[in-house]
Amino acid sequence: MIVLAIETSCDETAVAILRDHGDVLSHEIASQADIHAAYGGVVPEVASRNHLSLLPSLVEKARAEAGLRLDQIDAFAATNGPGLAAALLVGVSAAKGLALGVNKPFLAVNHIEGHMLSPFFGLSEIPPHVGLVVSGGHTMLLDVAGYGDYRLLGRTLDDAAGEAFDKVAKLLGLPYPGGVQIDLLARKGNPDRFEFPRSMLGSGDFAFSFSGLKTSVRYFLDRGFEPADLPDICASFQEAVIDVLVHKALAAVRRQGRSLLAVSGGVSSNSRLQAKLDLACSSAGIAWRMAPPALRTDNALMIAYAASHRQGGNSDLAADILPNFDY
Ligand code: KG4
Ligand code: ZN
Repeated sequence: MIVLAIETSCDETAVAILRDHGDVLSHEIASQADIHAAYGGVVPEVASRNHLSLLPSLVEKARAEAGLRLDQIDAFAATNGPGLAAALLVGVSAAKGLALGVNKPFLAVNHIEGHMLSPFFGLSEIPPHVGLVVSGGHTMLLDVAGYGDYRLLGRTLDDAAGEAFDKVAKLLGLPYPGGVQIDLLARKGNPDRFEFPRSMLGSGDFAFSFSGLKTSVRYFLDRGFEPADLPDICASFQEAVIDVLVHKALAAVRRQGRSLLAVSGGVSSNSRLQAKLDLACSSAGIAWRMAPPALRTDNALMIAYAASHRQGGNSDLAADILPNFDY
């Protein structure tokens, strides 16, 4: 099966064409990050308008790169939620139009599912595991028995982990999106120098909370700091986020009786998170995996991959967008 997928849930306009589960025919992303950087965050209407103007040429580029006519594509998929409503409408409408034009099915794909399955890109089966999705918009733990069989174990009650990175980066005067900047500075810092709260570490459930940590960093900065302390501040803040993520992820794997942890979303690129997962998982006898780098932040290939597991030719042409979808 050849799937063309469109992802427009936030500020990336992305189109990918995938044959079966791992044969990448095209993978296009037009990032709007520079445009939104000027505002210090994503402006929904600006994102939607850019999707609208960028999408036609991106679809044509992907199609030409794959060397296919549109009628040689078996299904057209798009992210229908969660995300910014007006941004989702652009991608879903475009994919429905393409599907109708060549009389092929339209497949509505969940953005979180796209992230969650991305560590298994290329595989035809999704093995049982616990999934940790850590992105700019989401922080959640799910038990996955197999494709389509998901159970939410816990989620953040306020900010997502990536959002906390971005907000703290903004407080520190670092450019948006700040997660990667904090990661880089933290490599030169001492994670034990400053004590920031590990919220809900001992709550005994799989819920997260990062807004108190962000506030605690703000109070700390308000008392004044030397620019030379920046690496230690970044490292200490980052450690507080990671300690909670690693602790709860491993606890979830153990409680579910699984032996595999899959970590996805933009924050899975964090070098300290990877190092601490390596250490903790190997001493606990748990295997862990993450997506290839290009599939960690928002992209259309993960949407195409999720769609590639759909059986049968049923079309979701009547599907609505689900901006606030949650498991
Ligand atoms: O998955 P993604 O595109 O977001 C959503 O779907 O919402 O991931 C973007 C998020 C941003 O918050 C960004 O700061 C964070 O991932 N991020 C990182 C790193 N690289 C990206 N956070 C920490 N360390 C990194 N190396
Ligand atoms: Zn995402």
